[in-house]
Amino acid sequence: PELVEETWRGLPIEAMHRNLNVFELDLMTSVEPGPLHSVLHHFPIRVPDTMPPRPHRRPSKWDSHHVRLPCAPQSHYPVEKEDGTAQIESRWEMIEKALLRPISSSMELQEAILTYNAKYKHQWNFVALHKLFSEDLDESETRVFFEDLLPRIIRLALRLPHLIMGPIPLLTQNRTYSVTFTQQQISCLLANAFLCTFPRRNTMKRKSEYSNFPDVNFNRLYQSTSPAVPEKLKCIFHYFRRVCPTDRDARNVPTGCVTFMRRSFKTSDMPDWAHFSTSVGALPLHIDAAGTIEDQGIGLLQVDFANKFLGGGVLGNGCVQEEIRFVICPELLVSKLITECLRPTEALVIMGCERYSNYTGYADTFAWAGNHEDETPLDNSRRRMTCIVAIDALRFMEPGHQYREELLIRELNKAYVGFMHTPMTPAPGVATGNWGCGAFGGDARLKALLQMMVAAVHDRPLAYYTFGNKELRDDVYAMHQLFKERDVSVKQLWLLLRRYNRYRHVPLYSFIKHELLEQSCNRDQAFAAGSELT
Ligand code: AR6
Repeated sequence: PELVEETWRGLPIEAMHRNLNVFELDLMTSVEPGPLHSVLHHFPIRVPDTMPPRPHRRPSKWDSHHVRLPCAPQSHYPVEKEDGTAQIESRWEMIEKALLRPISSSMELQEAILTYNAKYKHQWNFVALHKLFSEDLDESETRVFFEDLLPRIIRLALRLPHLIMGPIPLLTQNRTYSVTFTQQQISCLLANAFLCTFPRRNTMKRKSEYSNFPDVNFNRLYQSTSPAVPEKLKCIFHYFRRVCPTDRDARNVPTGCVTFMRRSFKTSDMPDWAHFSTSVGALPLHIDAAGTIEDQGIGLLQVDFANKFLGGGVLGNGCVQEEIRFVICPELLVSKLITECLRPTEALVIMGCERYSNYTGYADTFAWAGNHEDETPLDNSRRRMTCIVAIDALRFMEPGHQYREELLIRELNKAYVGFMHTPMTPAPGVATGNWGCGAFGGDARLKALLQMMVAAVHDRPLAYYTFGNKELRDDVYAMHQLFKERDVSVKQLWLLLRRYNRYRHVPLYSFIKHELLEQSCNRDQAFAAGSELT
C-alpha cells in the first residue's frame, strides 16, 4: 500500500483533548443570570428543544451603557420636508415605512435604507450590492432574493421590539461581563445590521459616542470592492436563508443560545514571566501543516486572530482569518454591536455560535462553498459547544520591534488572558496558529514560542496549525524537541527571548539553540569541575 505521509508532528490530536471527550465548553459555567451576566431570554428555558427560548421582558434603557435600539421610543431622526424645514420623526416608524414598500432591486434597497440614513444620501453608494446582482448572480437568483429572501429578512428585522424585550448591555472596557442571546435574537439583530438600522453607529468622527466600538451596520460592506466582497455577501445571504422563517414555516428558526463574555484584567494582575518554572518541553504539542483551526479544533478553545475592534475588516474589504470566521459563523458579528475595543489585557470569549457555510480559498481567492451542517453538540444551556476566543496581536510595521521586551510581555499577557480557564479538571487544548503573523506582520517562529509558554503555564495542550507551512512546522517541532531534551522552563525561555533583542542579526531559533547548547556545555563543565551552576 502507498505510504501516506502524516502532515502533523508531535502528539496526535486526541491528546489535545486529553483523551477524554471533554469540550472546552464543558469547563465554562452554564448560563445563569446574575450581576455579571445578562441573559436576554427567559430563564430557565421552559420551551421544548424545537422552539427558540422566549425573550425576557425588562424595562428598556436608552443610555451609554446599553445598545441604542432603533425601535426604542427615544430613537428619532430629522426628516427634511419639501419646504426645507426639518421635523423630528420616530426612526422606527420611518424604518417600517421604508422597508414595507416593495423593493425589487439593489437600487431600491439602497434608497429605502437611505430614507432613514438621509445624512449619508450623498456618501453611500452600494456598488458591491449593485455589482453582485448585475454581474455575479443570474436573473433567477436575483429574483429569488428580492421576492423571497429580502422580505423574510425585513420581516425578521421588524420583529425587533418583540424579540429583544430588555436592554442589551454593552461590553465596555475594564469589566468582565457576559451577555447571552438566543440565536433567534441574534438573527434579528443581524437582520437590522443588514438593513443599517442601528442609530449612531455610522459616523467615523473621533470622539463620537461609539468611536471606540466596531462598526455594525452593513453599509461599508456594500461599498467595498475587494474580490472577496461578493463571496462574503453570499455567506451572509446563506445565513439568512438558513435562519429567517418563511411565511408558512418557522421550523428553520435556530433554537440555541450564544454567550459573549468580555474577560478583563488589570495589568497589575499579570504574572511575572521570569517566575514560571513550568516546563515548556513537557507541553503536549500537536503541530500540523494541514487543516484549520475551525475544522480541526472542534471541542478545543479556538483562537480568533482578532482586531481590537472585533471583526476587523469583515464589513469592509478584509478577508483573512477573523473575517472568514465571522462570515461562516455570522452570529459572531453581534460582538461588533456590543464590544468596545479590546485593551491589552482583555479578550472576548464567544460560546455557542454555529457554523453555516463552507468556503474555499483565502483572501482574494475566498469563495463561498455552500451549506455547512454544524454537528457540534449542545451544552446544557443550549449552546453549541464551540468556544472561540478573540485576542488581538500587535501590528508590526517594523518587524524588528516585536522582540522588544515590553512588546513581548504585551503579547504574552494577551494570550495569557485568552487561554485562561476555570481551574477545574485538565482543560482541553488551544487550537491556534500563526496569530498576528499575517496581516499584522509578526514572526511566526516567535509567536509559536510565546503561545507555547502561555499554554504551558495554563497547563493546556497546544494544537498549532501552520496553514500549509511545512518548514515552520518542522522548525517549531524541532525547537519543542530541544526544549524537551533540555527540560527548558518558561522562565529560561523567557530570559533567552529577552536577551535576543540584542542579537537580532542571528535567526531566533539559531540563537536559542546556540544558547541552550552553550548553557548545557557550561553546566557540563561545571559538573566536571565539581561545582553546580544553577
Ligand atoms: N486556521 C489556521 N490558520 C490560519 C487560518 C485558519 N483558518 N486562516 C489563516 N491562518 P491573519 P493577524 C494563518 O492575517 O496577522 C484581520 O483583519 C495564516 O498563515 O488573519 O493576526 C483581523 O481583523 C495567516 O497568514 O491574522 C486583524 O485586523 C495567519 O494565520 C488582522 O487581520 C494570520 O492570519 C489580524 O492579523
